[in-house]
Amino acid sequence: MCGIIGYVGKQKAAPFILEGLKRLEYRGYDSAGVAIFQNGSFSVLKKIGRVANLELEVAKVNLGGTYGIGHTRWATHGGVTDFNAHPHLSSDGKFALIHNGVIENYASMKKYLLGKEYTFASETDSEALCNLIAYHYAKEPVTPQQNRFLTSVRKALLHAEGTYGIVVMCLDHPGEMVAARKGSPLILGLGDGENIIASDVSAIIARTQSVVYLNDGEIVYCTAKEFQITTLALEAVSPTVAKVTWNVADAEKGAYAHFMEKEIFEQPLALENTMRGRFSGDASTANFGGLNTTPIEFRGIERFMFCACGTALHACMVTEHLIEQYARTPVECDYASEFRYRNAPLFRNTLFFVMSQSGETIDTLAALREAKRKGYKVLAINNVVGSSIAREADGGIYQHVGPEIGVASTKAFTSQLLIGAMLALYIGRMRDMSFGEGVRYVTALKSAPNLVRKALEQAPHIREIAKRYAHHADMLFLGRMSLFPIALEGALKLKEISYIHAEGYPAAEMKHGPIALISEHCPSVFFAPRGEILNKIISSMQEIKARKGPVIAIITEGVELPEGLADELIVIPDCHDAVLPIVASIPVQLLSYYIAIERGCDVDKPRNLAKSVTVE
Ligand code: AGP
Ligand code: GLU
Repeated sequence: MCGIIGYVGKQKAAPFILEGLKRLEYRGYDSAGVAIFQNGSFSVLKKIGRVANLELEVAKVNLGGTYGIGHTRWATHGGVTDFNAHPHLSSDGKFALIHNGVIENYASMKKYLLGKEYTFASETDSEALCNLIAYHYAKEPVTPQQNRFLTSVRKALLHAEGTYGIVVMCLDHPGEMVAARKGSPLILGLGDGENIIASDVSAIIARTQSVVYLNDGEIVYCTAKEFQITTLALEAVSPTVAKVTWNVADAEKGAYAHFMEKEIFEQPLALENTMRGRFSGDASTANFGGLNTTPIEFRGIERFMFCACGTALHACMVTEHLIEQYARTPVECDYASEFRYRNAPLFRNTLFFVMSQSGETIDTLAALREAKRKGYKVLAINNVVGSSIAREADGGIYQHVGPEIGVASTKAFTSQLLIGAMLALYIGRMRDMSFGEGVRYVTALKSAPNLVRKALEQAPHIREIAKRYAHHADMLFLGRMSLFPIALEGALKLKEISYIHAEGYPAAEMKHGPIALISEHCPSVFFAPRGEILNKIISSMQEIKARKGPVIAIITEGVELPEGLADELIVIPDCHDAVLPIVASIPVQLLSYYIAIERGCDVDKPRNLAKSVTVE
């Protein structure tokens, strides 16, 4: 995780870097730091806590340099202390480095370097790499054609195991920056007389929309005016300059109190953007531009496999339900982190999908690589254009919902649900789904944004409910069929931002264990939509009620519950089965959000978390 940014240009570096760090803060917020080159040395300021703390320190000094680096940390090695904050300096003071990732062999590096009289000021893995660069700089000969700084970084990286996105400065080479990536995201922003290296586009968008997405194994050398990219093996790379399609306002909160709130209320628009231009002319099926898979290939697929993490996995589980129901084809879902190591026997004629908002989640990326290694085609459902997963997949579907900054995923989730529903339609129409059924399905999907708008109107009512339940320590979320994954998602959302212990369960499974938690102190949120198993769900509610458990029922319009069964009622619009999970997500997002607010939690930056998990 963690956010990194390096700047070389003609403007003051510190204010720009601090601004960039604030935009990257969702990636990690244990500590923040900057190193600015000025008057022939590095001025380094580091502070635990938010970027705002660092900003106060920076305000006390005069940092005038136009060349510098900054970091916001999500600690992996070493506690949350000022010393462990980045940037790190090599013990000879020549190099300053910021790092995102984990140097797995840092212990042996450190041991070796201690023997060579390098010293260490932190407990981090990153500092070992910084000192190793200094070691190569001091010891290794270079030819007159070689840049000593660039060569020493490259040589050190040849010994680094694990993952990294790094930016390095060298005292002897002012105005030059070297960056490299392996497993952690990094982009190069090309400005007017300035170049910027950052973890993601949000940090640079205020200055430039021209970016080069770096690939694993690449190393960049840049000054304010030029840049050059090669692989670590010194092969030349001809970069593709891409244009970012969104702007600064998309990455700002505007009038909302939190990004999460903004993103919840943006969902109708986000869903419209996800669907735009993706239905056939006769409005009976979906169209996807980038699948790179012919209908004939699709027709031959006998099984689908979906891998993802966290919220995205919940979207996969709903997709499983819809593909099995509408396309009658078996689907398997797996945690990407498990799939990558468990060596599952795989069927022939299986098509793989990975799902990831950020496209940088390391476990999902590893699952993609593992599936490809086994000879399977892998398609990606992903929001961030140019992400590692998007680039390594054989094809895929972009979500087009703009940047999602709140650590708790909301609009990206419902957009993934929509893509899953569209995929079920697309595959279903290639199999037994009739033209008429396809048309009804498409009509239903097109109504999703308005139904979500209607569900959002419940916000004030849900806020009142939240006030009554915010003090509880435990909560259950119970749903069946396609709403079971929404129950899992509701529980995850609540845990993540309000720190209330919550569990998601299939409603009927509750009596096989979790019912032991039930008392007047443990409320249950039930999904009770219309349908053939409504009575079974009502029975489960009765079982909770009989044990004095408070019941918050989310029902679809027209459902009537026995008198007194629900303590709280939230009514959502009735809709097609393919749209129901999307609409049902809204009340649980709002409930978690308002409960977290009641408890005074920082919803956009929940403790211990980070937006994209780029370490194992
Ligand atoms: C969502 O609220 C979580 N913060 C988390 O579970 C997230 O969905 C997961 O880390 C996967 O992220 P990705 O979609 O970017 O791969
Ligand atoms: N491993 C480094 C540290 O603990 C970087 C962590 C990160 O990528 O967030 O400081």
